[in-house]
Amino acid sequence: MSHGVYILSVFIHVIAACTWIGGMLFLILVFIPGIKKHPDKVSLIADVSLKYRGVGAVALTTLFITGILQLEYHGVQWTVEYFTTSSYGVTAGLKIIVFTIIVIISLIHDYYLGTKAIDQWKNQPDHAKTKTLRTLSRFLGRVSFILALVAAWLGIILVRGW
Ligand code: HEM
Repeated sequence: MSHGVYILSVFIHVIAACTWIGGMLFLILVFIPGIKKHPDKVSLIADVSLKYRGVGAVALTTLFITGILQLEYHGVQWTVEYFTTSSYGVTAGLKIIVFTIIVIISLIHDYYLGTKAIDQWKNQPDHAKTKTLRTLSRFLGRVSFILALVAAWLGIILVRGW
């Protein structure tokens, strides 16, 4: 792989990371608080979450593909020994584990729990089950956000060392 392709990959990787983390920051800090008193907030959250689900899937796929390209450029050996003994390998291994957990959480949150919570919220807003589903969805969303920050941190360590 040429140096030019590597640089392009890192550029795309960083933009995808901005989209993923920036999207969550916008939802948490701007969108949800901003529509708190809106009469139609449940439909707004449903429509925006559905839109972000698509953008998020593209961002995560892009992070994975460019991430693998960058690991290849750095000459990683795809062996358990490399990922458990070398400093770069251990950091990359940790990052791939964190990323895998992010993907699993996103699948549960975006395609099951989140949609169930929205449906329940639309039909029975004050039901105990609605509150439980909303609390669980919020919790998973926040765990995913923190893990994304950890992934970004590990990316910085991959480039600059511990
Ligand atoms: C939510 C997921 C991810 C986020 C937020 C993320 C974020 C970042 C960031 C911000 C950097 C740039 C660090 C810098 O230049 O200082 C980076 C670098 C890197 N990331 Fe990721 N990343 C993610 C997923 C992945 C995955 C899944 C892989 C591997 C399969 C990966 C492999 C890498 C590599 C190898 C670098 C170093 C690039 C270089 O050599 O300059 N990343 N990541």
